[in-house]
Amino acid sequence: MTFQARTERLRLRSWQADDCRRFYDIMNTPAVMQWLGGVQAYEKWCEGFERLQGYERDFGFTFWIVERLDDDEMLGFCGLKRLNYEGAPNPGEMEIGWRFRESAWGKGYAREAAEKALELAFERYGAARVSAVTVGGNTASQTLMLRLGMIEDPALAYHDAVYSERYGPARQWLITKYEWRARG
Ligand SMILES: CC(C)(COP(=O)(O)OP(=O)(O)OC[C@H]1O[C@@H](n2cnc3c(N)ncnc32)[C@H](O)[C@@H]1OP(=O)(O)O)[C@@H](O)C(=O)NCCC(=O)NCCS
Repeated sequence: MTFQARTERLRLRSWQADDCRRFYDIMNTPAVMQWLGGVQAYEKWCEGFERLQGYERDFGFTFWIVERLDDDEMLGFCGLKRLNYEGAPNPGEMEIGWRFRESAWGKGYAREAAEKALELAFERYGAARVSAVTVGGNTASQTLMLRLGMIEDPALAYHDAVYSERYGPARQWLITKYEWRARG
């Protein structure tokens, strides 16, 4: 099954085999990876790529590739998966996530893609609420969460097996279907 959705400026779509290398080449920078463990070896990213493809196969959604409609440029990923971090108190919760290349920052692309992903979570995939996870230092990601109308639930903070030693507790921001609809 291949997925595709559009916003005013963007396309969200399924991963294809030849996206793996291209994504790594444009995204593996110290700034993009600052709160994600730092730059990665290609082999490690390929494991992540396999997981992303597996989510779509198993659940029908994943953190999809985001491209600009104008020129088909790959900008990053944004989408949905089931929360599956070791140590998280709410495994299986619908999770929204994003990662954009540096040259695409500050243009509202992440917010545009994330608004679409929230719409899909609630209207197509039947989520009652959606979580976004990040660490305390990632203010860019937290600002995006707030702009989406998400609210932090301190009770869902946890010690993440991969990231917390380096960055502190993983924290969660949430929005319910009711809150999302009320935003209009
Ligand atoms: C988080 C990220 C996707 C935001 O991308 P972006 O393209 O800059 O986001 P947008 O342009 O849609 O901006 C969304 C809001 O966040 C704000 N914002 C973006 N970067 C910010 C920063 N560094 N500090 C504070 N606010 C920031 C924007 O100003 C905007 O708010 P506004 O509408 O009030 O102006 C991007 O920084 C990124 O890819 N980071 C690296 C990967 C990452 O950390 N992913 C998340 C892991 S949890």
